Amino acid sequence: MKRIKIFDTTLRDGEQSPGCSMHINEKIEIALQLEKLGVDVIEAGFAVSSEGDFKSVKAVAQAVKNCSVASLSRCVKGDIDASYNALKDAQSPRLHLFLATSPLHMQYKLKMSPEQVLERVEQSVKYAKSLVNDIEFSAEDAARSEPEFLAKVFSVAIKSGATVINVPDTVGYATPQEMKELVEYLIKHIDGIEKVDISAHNHNDLGLACANSLAMVLGGATQIECTINGIGERAGNTSLEEVVMALKTRESFYNAYTTINTKEIYRASRLVSNIIGVPIPPTKPIVGANAFAHESGVHQHAVLSNPLTYEIMRPEDVGVPQNKIVLGKHSGRHAFSEHLKSAGYDLAPEQIDEYFFKFKALADKKKYVSHKDIEALMTGTAKNISAGYELVDFDMTSSKTSKSTATITINTPQGIKTATESGNGPVESAFLAIKKALKKDIVLFDFHINSITEGQDALGEASVKLSYQGNTATGRGVSVDVLEAALFAFIDGLNKLQDDD
Ligand code: KIV
Ligand code: ZN
Repeated sequence: MKRIKIFDTTLRDGEQSPGCSMHINEKIEIALQLEKLGVDVIEAGFAVSSEGDFKSVKAVAQAVKNCSVASLSRCVKGDIDASYNALKDAQSPRLHLFLATSPLHMQYKLKMSPEQVLERVEQSVKYAKSLVNDIEFSAEDAARSEPEFLAKVFSVAIKSGATVINVPDTVGYATPQEMKELVEYLIKHIDGIEKVDISAHNHNDLGLACANSLAMVLGGATQIECTINGIGERAGNTSLEEVVMALKTRESFYNAYTTINTKEIYRASRLVSNIIGVPIPPTKPIVGANAFAHESGVHQHAVLSNPLTYEIMRPEDVGVPQNKIVLGKHSGRHAFSEHLKSAGYDLAPEQIDEYFFKFKALADKKKYVSHKDIEALMTGTAKNISAGYELVDFDMTSSKTSKSTATITINTPQGIKTATESGNGPVESAFLAIKKALKKDIVLFDFHINSITEGQDALGEASVKLSYQGNTATGRGVSVDVLEAALFAFIDGLNKLQDDD
């Protein structure tokens, strides 16, 4: 059986999607979860694109020990140097270079002839190879390139030192049959291809990203590029969870396997969703709330008699926590810390104290605390985001006959600030009061609220997207009081924006 390497690009292609920007500490938190998941490569960013990206690639390269860390570069010396410098501390660095090869991209975007493209690939890959051994070369828009020219480009890349050649369907246009045949064609026509990995990178514009990646495995690909929850440009990338579970569930059909620890999938999915503030649709394969729910009576009956009747995977295989009541008001620090350990959280004693305090506050308001509640307390709370702003107090009103009002008191680096505002509802009033208190023209461009568990005392989870002076941030807050959750989310977002100042 063939081992398929998993190249995760949540932090690069995933972050490129609108509204998915992440704070550097959140990127580290995701990278550490990807490491636990056992991915082979983490693409941490596009180092030259901004100072923030450079710092994030560097921080991820320093934090991660058990997998390769890659940074994207155009075939330009400055890009390659930036990636190389950002990756200097990586245990196993990979330089990922790309250049478009389709007639459309060469003519209208690059304004380069095919000969110039070949020459640039040779120079750039050779230069990258003089710095680092592990070089991936991607032919952007490969799916719409002339196969003969593509084979020439990849031959040059391999001769110049590439260790991985990536075949992207950049615009999500191809069909599974075409992508499989393209890989077969490349294998037949490229000298030395057996020495390198052939990588699949598919976008989901027609909903075919996962199918195309699997078809490429059948054709001979040995690496799949994917993101958690399938986030990415436009309709996104191949979903890691879908492609990994397809290979696991149909291992003998594909005659291939990955070394992903699938029990960490659910946690990774929730973490990314919480951090970017994008909820997972209930019907999302593998990680959606309904992915393992059997609603119809006929199905329920059959599953009780034999789960195999309707279940092709078990929720525990992907780490879905069962919504069991685990702790309550009287549970002590020891029980709490044992629970965290068994759920896979590895925390220092001071961090356990901090979360135990939060847990106690929750248990005072909520009779029973479930796995999902604890996960909500723990996930997405990236470490070391400065607590420059803190919510001190709030008073909000809402009525059918008059405008809502909110009085908010915040502790800021400049001291305590209070303001009152009125608006169309308590959330708008609170946001206006915060802006007034801080005298900052922050823009709120997205707001969600949803409940984590069922029942009257369910924990509410709020997420906001804020922007200020060209920077954007996602804030998240959790509380049994949904208005307090919204305020926590605003404050969390403000702290992340402040870190970017
Ligand atoms: O979609 C694409 O072509 C890419 C490349 C940069 C690999 O993301
Ligand atoms: Zn892409």
